[in-house]
Amino acid sequence: MSNSATGQADGAGLTTEDKIALGSGADFWTTKAVGTIASLTLTDGPHGVRRQQGATDHLGLSKSVPATCFPPAVGLAQSWDPELVQRVGKALGFEARSLDVDVLLGPGINIKRDPRGGRSFEYYSEDPILTGQLGAAWVIGVQSAGVGASLKHFAANNSEHDRMRSSSDVDPRPLREIYLRAFSHIVRTARPWTVMCSYNRINGVHAAQNQWLLTRVLREEWGFDGVVVSDWGAVVDRAASVAAGLDLQMPGDGGRGDAAVAHALEAGEIAESAIDRAAAAVVDLAAKATRGRAQSGVKPDVTEHHALAREVAGRCVVLLRNSGDVLPLTPGQSLAVIGEFAESPRFQGGGSSHVNPTAVDIPLDEIRALAAGPVSYARGFTTDGSGDAAQLRAEAVHAAAAAQVAVVFLGLGASQESEGFDREDIELPADQLELLTEVVRAQPHTVVVLAHGGVLRLGPVVDLAPAIVDAALSGQAGGGAIADVIFGVVNPSGRLAETVPIRLADTPAYLDFHGENSHVRYGEGIHVGYRWYDARDMDVCFPFGHGLSYTSFTYGDPTVVVDESGLRISIDITNTGRRPGREVVQIYTSVADSTIVRPPRELKGFGATSELAPGQSGRVTVAILREDLAYWETRTDQWIVEGGTYRVDIGSSSRDIRASVDVTVPGDDFHVPITAESTLGEALADPKTAAALGELFAGMSEVPTGDAFGVDMMRMIASIPLNRLTGFGMPAEALDALFDEQT
Ligand code: BGC
Repeated sequence: MSNSATGQADGAGLTTEDKIALGSGADFWTTKAVGTIASLTLTDGPHGVRRQQGATDHLGLSKSVPATCFPPAVGLAQSWDPELVQRVGKALGFEARSLDVDVLLGPGINIKRDPRGGRSFEYYSEDPILTGQLGAAWVIGVQSAGVGASLKHFAANNSEHDRMRSSSDVDPRPLREIYLRAFSHIVRTARPWTVMCSYNRINGVHAAQNQWLLTRVLREEWGFDGVVVSDWGAVVDRAASVAAGLDLQMPGDGGRGDAAVAHALEAGEIAESAIDRAAAAVVDLAAKATRGRAQSGVKPDVTEHHALAREVAGRCVVLLRNSGDVLPLTPGQSLAVIGEFAESPRFQGGGSSHVNPTAVDIPLDEIRALAAGPVSYARGFTTDGSGDAAQLRAEAVHAAAAAQVAVVFLGLGASQESEGFDREDIELPADQLELLTEVVRAQPHTVVVLAHGGVLRLGPVVDLAPAIVDAALSGQAGGGAIADVIFGVVNPSGRLAETVPIRLADTPAYLDFHGENSHVRYGEGIHVGYRWYDARDMDVCFPFGHGLSYTSFTYGDPTVVVDESGLRISIDITNTGRRPGREVVQIYTSVADSTIVRPPRELKGFGATSELAPGQSGRVTVAILREDLAYWETRTDQWIVEGGTYRVDIGSSSRDIRASVDVTVPGDDFHVPITAESTLGEALADPKTAAALGELFAGMSEVPTGDAFGVDMMRMIASIPLNRLTGFGMPAEALDALFDEQT
């Protein structure tokens, strides 16, 4: 083996052996110290710091030191608020820094393709623009504290089932427009220090050894200049991974991978430049981390971070339904609080992201603290099946009947959803629905509070309860935030980041979610989430973007400015109700006469008013980047903005559009080369080829017409590829000459 030293890593005087050694971890959470290059500590992530100081694991089994548990991504996304997410990121970075963590393993930004996905709680949304903007804010926040982020799981890791082998078989358009779009946005705008490649294969090739993904797309197209780290245990063949673009294998494997790379180098199976690239990336990461460590100092204030977690959780709560204005509760009303989650809240997911919280708000205590009247409590059900269900139900019904309002906490228990497996269904446990049925019979003024990581079928709850508060998973201060919302201390402004379907069988990937034989076909293409329900004109239980307020808003006349950077939409919003409130404004676009397949509308931007007093108006301005209007053109492998009339829909949800404007957007220069496989119609649309063809036709005997048969012969002929025209008497040599001219 040569001991030559090249590239950036050479500055540190590294031998080839050193460089290879830098490419794998020392143990579970740290990299190796090599020469003057410092050992780095990486840790989960994403909604709190999981810093293990004793036994280590990547499944959330062993203890970690206490850290603030902010709302997991499922909750955080419901804020639709990048500024808030950036504040959370900064607080996380600050905590990580104070625990000597150099890289926090997040954010998780995979698209929620199917509500059964076991890790839905760790991801933001079914929409790539919402995911991209929130994920970028998280990265910017964390990195502002001198701690690196790790954008994960790259890529198309949309289910947990068979996650280490399964191939996500995705066509180019959905891959680019849906599954890679948020990664691309965050890499280019927030510059994460690291990207974590996923366990799964993409179109047959493991992410960890996918040259196209890690080098062509990530580095060459998007300009990524950080470290590509493997998901924990994702590497199958380290030498192939390094050659494809992997820089750091985690965790360490006792030197086996290093030996394999050294052997591959000796055998001429891997270029030394690949080893140099990987080492240089790790050296550069160490330099960033060393600069970041200089930001250490003041310990984070645990109480302040808990208060931030409560503020954030309040922003993330979605008021799904509020028939008869049951909410907010009136001071002095007597309340029956029901359900185990009121006493033992479910506020985060299970697996590698599991945080040991610094404190936990108990919803029942927080409700008692804000209530001005009596509050009784009944457990109602248990999540582990213990206890006499009939007895628990009877107690709950009794409490509900004796109070003026029942507040019923329902949801999924920790064992019902987690990293590592997917759910089989989207049902609330049957005993909880039975409980709700009986409670509502005794007490029609019932508020349901939901805790869950993945989407639930809510039809039965809608049929029963006049008010539904969706807290998703809301972090350690979620209990306080729920109390704030139900008493109106916080006027809810959260919005769904995922559609709630009527039934599982309606969902886009219903038939091929797990696929077969370790292959998952993404058959729904670009029609993921609301794009699917809208394209098929299907009813849903609650649409993407939905969320109510205790006040009401009217939308003024929007203005849309089109320029080379994209669209700029401005609209005045007025609070027409009686409480102060904040409105999230969503911008969707569509192209009526598009030449490509498009969903009826796609989210392209969003913004929010500040807190508006009753009667007050505020202007919301949203900039949409021109690149976000582009679709992936499969014939030429490039992003193209199609020219034409774009409808800009401005709404309070994807199905509550309040104003629309048509604008003309100039298209990109785009030309599909004419080949022998182009149809006559395509060739005639190209002026130069049309002229040449005209001459050829003039030389042919008689061009048939089908008038006598009632056939539009020209339309039929237009679909014939040029190379098939020889059958109609077109001389082959003349056609060949035509293509020669084209090239
Ligand atoms: C998860 C990652 C996590 C890593 C380290 C893996 O099982 O997929 O998200 O960062 O473990 O705990």
